[in-house]
Amino acid sequence: MTIRRLDVSRFRNLTGVSLEPGPGVNLLIGDNGAGKTSLLEAISVLSSGRSFRASRTPTIIQFEQNAYTLFAEVFNPLAQFQPIVPIGISRNRDSEQQIRISGQQARSAAQLAELLPVQVINSDSFQLLEGSPKVRRQFMDWGVFHVEHRFFPAWQAAQKALKQRNKLLKYGKISACQQLDIWDQALARYAEEIDYYRADYVSQLIPEFEYMLAELKFTLPISLSYYRGWDRQTDCLRLLQDSRVKDLAQGFTQSGPHRADLRIRVNKLMAVDVLSRGQQKLVVCALLLAQGRLLQRLTGKQCVYLVDDLPAELDSEHRQSLCRVLEQMQCQVFITSVEPDALASNWSAETELTMFHVKHGDIQQQ
Ligand SMILES: Nc1ncnc2c1ncn2[C@@H]1O[C@H](COP(=O)(O)OP(=O)(O)OP(=O)(O)O)[C@@H](O)[C@H]1O
Ligand SMILES: [Mg+2]
Repeated sequence: MTIRRLDVSRFRNLTGVSLEPGPGVNLLIGDNGAGKTSLLEAISVLSSGRSFRASRTPTIIQFEQNAYTLFAEVFNPLAQFQPIVPIGISRNRDSEQQIRISGQQARSAAQLAELLPVQVINSDSFQLLEGSPKVRRQFMDWGVFHVEHRFFPAWQAAQKALKQRNKLLKYGKISACQQLDIWDQALARYAEEIDYYRADYVSQLIPEFEYMLAELKFTLPISLSYYRGWDRQTDCLRLLQDSRVKDLAQGFTQSGPHRADLRIRVNKLMAVDVLSRGQQKLVVCALLLAQGRLLQRLTGKQCVYLVDDLPAELDSEHRQSLCRVLEQMQCQVFITSVEPDALASNWSAETELTMFHVKHGDIQQQ
């Protein structure tokens, strides 16, 4: 998937910009506050309906404006009949987000994610190591969602069952036991299904992760493993039944697929406690790149990579190896940097480079 055309209006300091990105590496160069991250953010909204930066939309809409609009033409080389898909998103300060795909109102943001898979490498990516299991679960589920179409409905059904079970547990009535039996069974059934998809996915991700670490010249012994959210020896129904008394006392379901995690360790210690900042960046890049490579291998789809401030934290050798890997992936990449020359010597002659200069909310191709 590549973005052929991009129009952004009234989105942060980008009043009205229009660009035609190249299919390879797109470099966005500009001073602090110019609008580089805002452009990446606009692409991430187009890919998921959500920003990677703000949890609340009003902060994205340009000051003193009422709405933002985003438009992109996405090229899908896998489509036989309609390879160019127009997508548009607009959001008013006081109304729902409107998503249109090929002129039709979209049912959900999940449709965008399917059409335009995007991976973001920025300072928040460190959360994959520093953050709670929820961050790693979302990372893993992004991958499973894209490669296994049965995952999302099972995940939604498990969420519903979990919510109902927690509601009953919260009010703690013994008379609720019969209803609890029903939700235990529903949750257990979908939990086993989700666990199967996640375990299968991670087993395929591990070799890709190891490959990426080697490409990025990361030399410490690091391991990636999957924790399903409850004990390996126990089936989920048994777990829910056995923990009912404790769950009633706590008022919520303590174990289950909503507690799954990816464990990233160096010499059996949590990676975040051992690695330097630059090493952490290499590990999170390896995870995100491995996911893109696996997606490509399993579905033929290519991710678009958004890399905010690529040079930060990396020495010149590791910048070089990250640029090499991004080139090898042959996908569309948007990279920001404040220094025009920081990445100048890192690309091979064959790579299609498109350079944009970002200045006070205006973007010009060089
Ligand atoms: N809702 C908004 N309306 C208008 N301007 C905004 C809004 N939100 C943020 N800004 C401004 O937009 C500008 C661009 O921010 P952005 O984060 O894109 O800069 P950047 O080029 O990535 O800079 P840096 O190199 O420092 O990361 C900033 O000056 C910021 O204050
Ligand atoms: Mg920025």
